[in-house]
Amino acid sequence: MTEHELQKLLNSLSLEEKAFQLSQVPGPFYVKDAQIAGTEVENDLTDLELAMMGSTLYVYGPDEMHAVQEKCIADHPHHIPMMFMMDVIHGYRTVFPIPLAMGASFDPDGAETMMQVSAAESSSEGIHVAFSPMLDLVRDPRWGRVMESTGEDPYLNSVLGQAMVRGLQGDGRVSSCIKHYAAYGAPEGGRDYQNSELSEHTLREYYLPAYRAAVEAGADMVMSSFQTLNGLPSAANPWLLKDILRGEWGFKGVIITDWAAIAEMVKHGICADLKEAALTAFLAGVDIDMCSMAYHRYLPELVREGKISEADLDRSVLRVLTLKNKLGLFENPYKDANKETAKELILCAEHRSAARKAVSETLVLLKNSKNSAAVSNDTLLSQKNSSNNASDALLPLKKDRSIALIGPYVNCEELYSAWAPNGRNEDTVTVQAAAEELEQEGYKLTYSRGCRLETRADLLAKSRESSILQLRCGTFPDAAPDESELAKKADAIQAAWEADTVVLFLGEHRSVSGEGASRANITLPENQLDLLRSIYEVNQNIVTVVFSGRPLDLREVCRFSKSVVMAWLPGTEGGHGIMDVLTGKENFSGRLPMSIPVSVGQIPVFYNQLSTGRPKDPVKDDPNYCSAYLDTPNRPLFPFGYGLSYSRFSISQVQLSANEVENCREDLLQACAEVLNTSDRAGVLTVQLYIRDDTASLARPVKELKGFQRISLAPGEKKTVKFNITPAMLSYTGKDNKRIVEPGTFTVWIGEDSETQNQAAFTLK
Ligand code: NOJ
Repeated sequence: MTEHELQKLLNSLSLEEKAFQLSQVPGPFYVKDAQIAGTEVENDLTDLELAMMGSTLYVYGPDEMHAVQEKCIADHPHHIPMMFMMDVIHGYRTVFPIPLAMGASFDPDGAETMMQVSAAESSSEGIHVAFSPMLDLVRDPRWGRVMESTGEDPYLNSVLGQAMVRGLQGDGRVSSCIKHYAAYGAPEGGRDYQNSELSEHTLREYYLPAYRAAVEAGADMVMSSFQTLNGLPSAANPWLLKDILRGEWGFKGVIITDWAAIAEMVKHGICADLKEAALTAFLAGVDIDMCSMAYHRYLPELVREGKISEADLDRSVLRVLTLKNKLGLFENPYKDANKETAKELILCAEHRSAARKAVSETLVLLKNSKNSAAVSNDTLLSQKNSSNNASDALLPLKKDRSIALIGPYVNCEELYSAWAPNGRNEDTVTVQAAAEELEQEGYKLTYSRGCRLETRADLLAKSRESSILQLRCGTFPDAAPDESELAKKADAIQAAWEADTVVLFLGEHRSVSGEGASRANITLPENQLDLLRSIYEVNQNIVTVVFSGRPLDLREVCRFSKSVVMAWLPGTEGGHGIMDVLTGKENFSGRLPMSIPVSVGQIPVFYNQLSTGRPKDPVKDDPNYCSAYLDTPNRPLFPFGYGLSYSRFSISQVQLSANEVENCREDLLQACAEVLNTSDRAGVLTVQLYIRDDTASLARPVKELKGFQRISLAPGEKKTVKFNITPAMLSYTGKDNKRIVEPGTFTVWIGEDSETQNQAAFTLK
């Protein structure tokens, strides 16, 4: 349609028809067994009203989508097609590693590929808009939704977010709806749906950049978050939606609320009733009401009462119609939904192989030493430089050793998160299935489960058992020993006893991360730790592979394991991808996108913290009167950017092209270093550039990631890595919340992780 035709269509709509375009109701209103996220809503809508809705979510499948779209268009007085939306977070049927793991890849091309595959599969099933990527910066692993984020760093999140938007929208199949604007990732105490309390400075410096980057990459939609930010739900926040998003960033697309966010304004206590909430959201700048049933009920009345201008209503409706037009729905309302295409594309070999490659890029090798003793930060460097490639390290696994694969994740099909609504157990390649393929190559493997994998229901039951009442005054019944669990454990111990090497596949169940899945304790479940300790009694050659949706407290895992691997939730090809790397067919290259704390007590712990007036002196290590804990180190167990590989690398001293520069050109200077693969294994190293503004008018972070490059190096190969340093990299949000660049000295690091000491300095005049 031309703009003129769109305008004509808009002019022909009644107030009610306009309000319906701005309303979205869930799939079960149209298709009985459609899945939805969140609470069911009472359906008191007529067929005509359903047909007039602008969009729905969670109707998918070529047949289902066709049937719903056909009926709605036929029933609609102006035959306007609907948009079909869904959460497509880390793949569709071919499920990729969770976004946090994709963060660990530091690979924008890989993230783009994931979203291309997701767009191809989901569009063939009738999806027009993917609620993705999630760009919430995260610093608290207790929050269950850290799995949906790419981590703690604004720059990494921005680069990967842009790549994911490109992947989704690149070939015009699917529109990207970025979320959850803003700062949903900072709930107090890590408890989902809680208030985020952040200064404007902190928002602008850390939490907003990734959303902005995705808007600049052309995302068609933005979802406002449903928690309160400094006491105000984002859907009621005109400063966020109008001043910043539309005003400062020039966003022209559609703003949708998160699920039932308008209705929740009543529960937040900022609106007396749903009508007032509809008015508040509309005036704040929300275009589409997701599932609050507020807009279609109240917008026409609010216009008639003069509380909302029809011109403003028209602007919102035009944005929705324009998006439908961009998607080509007026010409072809079924767009790419096609049974044959779906059959051909979904889980095809090409998609599976992209997912398998992604797994190998997202695994992070935390430890691969000769000893199982606990890793302290002070040994990280020596570990990197020496033993990770020691020939007697347990990884890669060796064919001449008998290997017992043990743990509840050995034969687990649930390798995808709660945010992979189309993930299916039967599609998953388990660790055991992949390992069995290796037996033909001569690997000597046995398999045992060891213990069960506790789920969300188990955690909830335990938390009920230790209810406040019981803690205050009760006694706790002794749990009766479970005979079948004892037998599983005995089998596993026997297998461990007989084997040369044990590989333990442990972790938290997919249902304990994701939405509404916050945890106060982030250790492995006690039955798994018990298994680990018992196995250590009979065999100390332990590799532990950890599955989880969040960084965990890994102290015991590190204490009892010689090698530790973070496998996250790796998706459909998880088994293959993991065994590829454990056997050394592929090399490790993942780096942590989020710090792994020593304990919950350190949270939030993140690398780019502000400089304190009383830093802990690393040399004297004097804990008195400095910003430190008496009983826990300051630094995380494993820092942001950290990861080992089978290769060893050395990075030369940082060289700067100038010691003093004028702030006048785009590229102020160059920082470079030579990277040498000192090992006999080809490998990929993510070389990281960090900068600190040494003296500024506000305290600045101790260092900030400003660039990274993934480079491949053959054995003995040397490459020079160059970074251009621009004024934008040196700028920050000043006292008046405007971006400034201040003269003075800056420190530049080029290294392997955020604890690098490889630095040089220059002065900006
Ligand atoms: C609620 C979640 O917060 C959001 O991420 C999701 O897109 C919507 N539900 C729709 O499922």
